[in-house]
Amino acid sequence: MDEKLLAIKNSAISLILETKSPKELEEIRIQFLGRNGEVTQLLKELPKIPKEDRPKIGSLTNEVKNIIEDTIKTRLASLKENKTNALPAFDVTEPINESDKTLGHLHLVTQAIREITAIFNEIGFTRVRYPEIEWDWYAFTSLNFPQNHPARDDWETFFIEQPPDPKKGPVLLTPHTSSGQVREMEKGKLPIKMLNIAKTYRRQSDISHTPMFHQFEGLVVGKDIAISDLKGTLNYFVKSYFGENRKSRIRPYHFQFTEPSFEVDITCGVCLGKGCRLCKEGWLELGGAGMVHPNVLRAGNVDPEKFTGFAFGWGVERVLMMKDGIKIDDLRTLYSNDLDFLKQF
Ligand code: PHE
Repeated sequence: MDEKLLAIKNSAISLILETKSPKELEEIRIQFLGRNGEVTQLLKELPKIPKEDRPKIGSLTNEVKNIIEDTIKTRLASLKENKTNALPAFDVTEPINESDKTLGHLHLVTQAIREITAIFNEIGFTRVRYPEIEWDWYAFTSLNFPQNHPARDDWETFFIEQPPDPKKGPVLLTPHTSSGQVREMEKGKLPIKMLNIAKTYRRQSDISHTPMFHQFEGLVVGKDIAISDLKGTLNYFVKSYFGENRKSRIRPYHFQFTEPSFEVDITCGVCLGKGCRLCKEGWLELGGAGMVHPNVLRAGNVDPEKFTGFAFGWGVERVLMMKDGIKIDDLRTLYSNDLDFLKQF
């Protein structure tokens, strides 16, 4: 009985809301509340049910009756109102007021991704895409990370709660685009000139970090690839993207998957090298680079005796913020959905 009442109530309400005229509404009122209506019938059956259940079912039936009556009233009022407030038909051919014209544009991170892609296309790099939800194998193990490396800590990397793959290990949100390196080698085609651009994820949020950010990763593998090729590529990019007034430098560094490894810096676009809230000392870290470690080549089935390579991985938001004329002193602004900010670009 309870369920029957509930079903009646639900079907009455949905029918009422679909009505388009007071006449239709009246038909529905009769269907449910009229002398032979569905609710009225139920009330008539009350004497047939066990005495002890009667008060409960009786009041429930009355409640349903009241709800239906109220919904009909409300619907009637809104049908009448719509009639008087009916909107005129929208004329799509009507010329619009010049001052009302607002044209959207791509987010500035998307603009940067397109610009970076075009710059690297010029020198033969091909844009590729690899999964952002990735196995440990591609993000860490194949890149020569030891089991106990701190990047594998819960505090650094977002792990997905899913049983690990017997060979490829746990599932995670890739913390860098380097996870595309071995995937690219697995395609089995040499030479490689890859540009992998993707969202990357790390557990950090401050003036120069957001938990989700983008990286672009270059990987070149072939015969006789040397550090000079890496430096040439780096200089070409800095010139094309930042312009002649920006300086870059390379410092020795350490990454598990490159040997030797470098950190590439460029003068800050806000203070041009003087030091400010964002960069502190005048230099901003573009990101890492280096010569591909032999173990990584092996993991990708490339013979390190025959082939060498270089790789670099830099943040899209970071390079964007270091560009001339873009003075953003808090990286989080990019993702704050502030139209006044976004409209400037
Ligand atoms: N993956 C490194 C990072 O996210 C950057 C890097 C890429 C370093 C390629 C060396 C070579 O910090």
